[in-house]
Amino acid sequence: MKKLRIALTKGRLEKSTLELFSKAGYDCTQLLDKGRKLIFNVLNADIEIVLVKANDVITYVEHGVCDIGIVGKDTILESGKSFYEVLDLGFGKCRFALAGKKGVPFYEGYDKKVIATKYEKVARSFFQKKDIDVEIIKIDGSVELAPILGLSNAIVDIVETGATLKENGLEIIEEICEISARVIVNIASMKMKKKEIDLFINKIAEAL
Ligand code: PRP
Repeated sequence: MKKLRIALTKGRLEKSTLELFSKAGYDCTQLLDKGRKLIFNVLNADIEIVLVKANDVITYVEHGVCDIGIVGKDTILESGKSFYEVLDLGFGKCRFALAGKKGVPFYEGYDKKVIATKYEKVARSFFQKKDIDVEIIKIDGSVELAPILGLSNAIVDIVETGATLKENGLEIIEEICEISARVIVNIASMKMKKKEIDLFINKIAEAL
């Protein structure tokens, strides 16, 4: 058996991912008391786990230093990189949406609309499909501020419970797509480590 290295998104998806791995029979006790360590071993399988930020999961898998990654569909859509997306894990559920100030019609008027977002590619492709020319302004966090402060007409962002929009006087104009955690696989690893990867994916799929 060849060793597999898996990149996990730390933070929001971490707990559900480790619960799923444990349910699939993988002993992840090393990850329960992490300290400052960065690389962990699954104690009962030839698998190494690294915990990194979502964008870095994509980078490590694309470059093949990790064979498999667990990452949100939001990060996948925004990355535009090449790898296989093999499984929808069904947790980390939320959606991309276009949102703006409550009661203010977005599509009215002929002025070019300004969109604030962390997800420039997702926003651009959404408006390209509608054949609407917009100006996109990149914001790094708390995007909801942009329409409130008058920087943009609307935002493209992740909505989970809808609480952030509501508490800031914003509402969904249109839903863009559903998001959840996915399993991605490096293209070369899929050939070179097919047996090991198939075994891992089957165990995870069964535990879902
Ligand atoms: C995300 C997103 C929204 C919020 C949505 O932000 O950008 O702001 O969560 O969740 P809700 O619908 O349940 O209110 P995050 O917490 O990741 O922080 P950020 O704004 O710094 O990116």
